[in-house]
Amino acid sequence: MMNQIGLIGIGVMGSNLALNLSDKNFKVKVFNNSDEKIQNLIQKDKNNNIEGFNTIKELIKNLEKPRNLLLLVPSGAPTFEVSKTLLELMEKGDFLIDAGNSYFEDSITLGKLCKDKDVSFIGMGVSGGEVGARTGPALMIGSENQIPDELKFLFDSIAAKKDSVPCSGYYKGAGTGHFIKMIHNGIEYAEMQILAEAYSILKFSNFSNFEASEFFSNLSNNNQSSYLIEITSKILKKEVKENYIIDKIDSVANHKGTGKLTIETSLEHGFPVPSIYSAFNARVESHYQKLFSLDVDKLDNQIDISKLNSAIYFSRLSSLLQGLLFIEFLSERNSYKIMTKNILSNWAAGCIIRSELLAELSNNCDKKGMLDKNKVQNLLNLYLEDTKDVIRQAINSNIPLHVITSSLNWYLNLSSNTNPSNLIQAQRDYFGAHKVKLIGSEDFLHIDWD
Ligand code: 6PG
Repeated sequence: MMNQIGLIGIGVMGSNLALNLSDKNFKVKVFNNSDEKIQNLIQKDKNNNIEGFNTIKELIKNLEKPRNLLLLVPSGAPTFEVSKTLLELMEKGDFLIDAGNSYFEDSITLGKLCKDKDVSFIGMGVSGGEVGARTGPALMIGSENQIPDELKFLFDSIAAKKDSVPCSGYYKGAGTGHFIKMIHNGIEYAEMQILAEAYSILKFSNFSNFEASEFFSNLSNNNQSSYLIEITSKILKKEVKENYIIDKIDSVANHKGTGKLTIETSLEHGFPVPSIYSAFNARVESHYQKLFSLDVDKLDNQIDISKLNSAIYFSRLSSLLQGLLFIEFLSERNSYKIMTKNILSNWAAGCIIRSELLAELSNNCDKKGMLDKNKVQNLLNLYLEDTKDVIRQAINSNIPLHVITSSLNWYLNLSSNTNPSNLIQAQRDYFGAHKVKLIGSEDFLHIDWD
């Protein structure tokens, strides 16, 4: 029975995964060129299952065949560099498992490099941050190769559990695991921004930080429990030296690019994910405060919290749907054969976007495990009018709602058989002779506009 694994990259995620593996009685052989880092990790390991090596060659030599090597180094060039070194030493039947935040196209490329060396490749998205890695992440596992039961047992052992079911999803394709993780991160951006917009509304409705915190903790009691809502409530009431720390934090948000990749990929494939885009854009705009010198003051808002609850639900559902529909679109196009119901189960625990909404959406899938668009539309419609009221009020109070407004526009536009793009066609044909397609015809023709 295989009970050991090699691990390269003992940063935050790597060291916590190593400790998680050790807790589950797997022998973990780690590489790091710093003996101090290795010792620091070994000291935390109460089960004495972690062993360190200062060269990759030593590590490879001390791993039983077929070897399983877990990579947790920064995505992009570092991942490729370490992989190429490993592939010179690995042998047929070994598994290289990239568990970094790699771009899925890179995982497809790395899968090919491994195949050339008769090494099997797994691209694994890991979600749940530091705590998740330590106690149970959600694992999104993509591979062209058949994954041995022993390796599946290892992944299932360290993964988060929902009602004792491991949150480890297995998908065909070297890049599919990282593709699904990328979409997860896009949805994560949107969820975080929706909560920030709700916090903004509460703030300009004269809620204190503590009252706002209470609002978010009460959301959990109104069918909206989620990890991000939970931590938002805790963050808002966190005091340091009798001051709310949230009031001391600068209003600028950064990113490591994971959500940006979702948008770039959606633009490349011409698939709409406007709520995810708006969330990313809000982070970018946060660096351009006071571009204009004249302050447009926020006016007092009198929010109806049950309507705000609805607007949060509507926008969260819209953002989640955009991500899942994009996966369905690309799965269809690339014959990934991904079932949405499996993704919702994969994300049921451990990951950053875990929430009750995922289970609710799972109940709105069809017999094939894909989204039932009629059922889902009925859900959205339940919250539509309240969402519009919240947006109306925010507009009157000069409060920008990037994602909540974008979610409404997305839904209204995709629930209508008319939109003003006929004029766009005409304008393009007028100045660029790009031709127009008439209703009921597949042909394009140029209009003589004079
Ligand atoms: C997760 C998180 C994590 C994320 C980092 C950075 O699923 O555990 O999504 O993987 O990449 O928290 O996020 P940013 O893209 O916002 O920097």
